[in-house]
Amino acid sequence: MARIIAGMGSPHAPAVGAAVDRGDEESAYWKPLFDGYKPMRAWLERERPDVIILFTNDHFTSFFLDVIPTFAIAVANQHEIADEGWGRRALPEVPGHTELAWHLSKTLVDDGFDLAVCHRLPLDHGSLAPLSALMPHVKEWPVRVIPILVNVLHFPIPSAARCFELGRAIRRAVGSFEDDLKVVALGTGGLSHQLTGERFGMINPEWDAEFLDRLEIDPQSLARLSHRELIERGGTESVEMIMWLCMRGALSQAVRRVHRNYYHATLTGYGQVLFEDCENLTR
Ligand code: DHB
Ligand code: FE
Repeated sequence: MARIIAGMGSPHAPAVGAAVDRGDEESAYWKPLFDGYKPMRAWLERERPDVIILFTNDHFTSFFLDVIPTFAIAVANQHEIADEGWGRRALPEVPGHTELAWHLSKTLVDDGFDLAVCHRLPLDHGSLAPLSALMPHVKEWPVRVIPILVNVLHFPIPSAARCFELGRAIRRAVGSFEDDLKVVALGTGGLSHQLTGERFGMINPEWDAEFLDRLEIDPQSLARLSHRELIERGGTESVEMIMWLCMRGALSQAVRRVHRNYYHATLTGYGQVLFEDCENLTR
């Protein structure tokens, strides 16, 4: 049986991927962030999950205004590296897991979630920034990845509650897959940031800390927040924090916090967490 053994949260700003590519991880500016990845990398190396279910969003790279699925899943066995306008990053294609992705697609429909099924979905910084910061990737990636995309760019976007419920449905769906697989749920984006308008550049570290506390202990209370409440507290683009609720919904009610880090540099509050699943990873 497949089981979700842990959840992680990571920023996905393109600057993180650029810092990885430049080898800038020990600079004074970036060290507080990349030090935060070290326990997560060590944990991944030790536990060697088979699959990462990656909750992220497309940034008008593979979808545009003509078609914007609310939720989408990438079922290919290899995911291409997208060119976001400044050339493709020199990364190997990311291996997918077609069998599990199809199982999720079919099972989720029966469970009330109709995801757009994507046979080709080039990945942008929303996926590649966190993956490249979390794992070695020079020749190949050590894990298969199933991207699940959430529309957080163009209203109407799904509610925080719906994202949390999607995570729960994914937990059920993973649990009904026959093969013995160790699965990690990875939520990406945020935390507080606003990249447009009057509050451009705003960061709210107090809110980010409260969000991470409640994510661990009382995620249902976050799932009740409206988009307006999230945006007022964290800035317009911080609404993508709902993707962390997808991750949290995929975990047991009680989780073991293994790691948490927070850093804010220029435009974005960067949060990192690693929660072990209390039901599926017994120690
Ligand atoms: C930026 C882009 C993002 O998609 C994001 O989530 C945070 C920051 C950026 O362009 O800086
Ligand atoms: Fe983003």
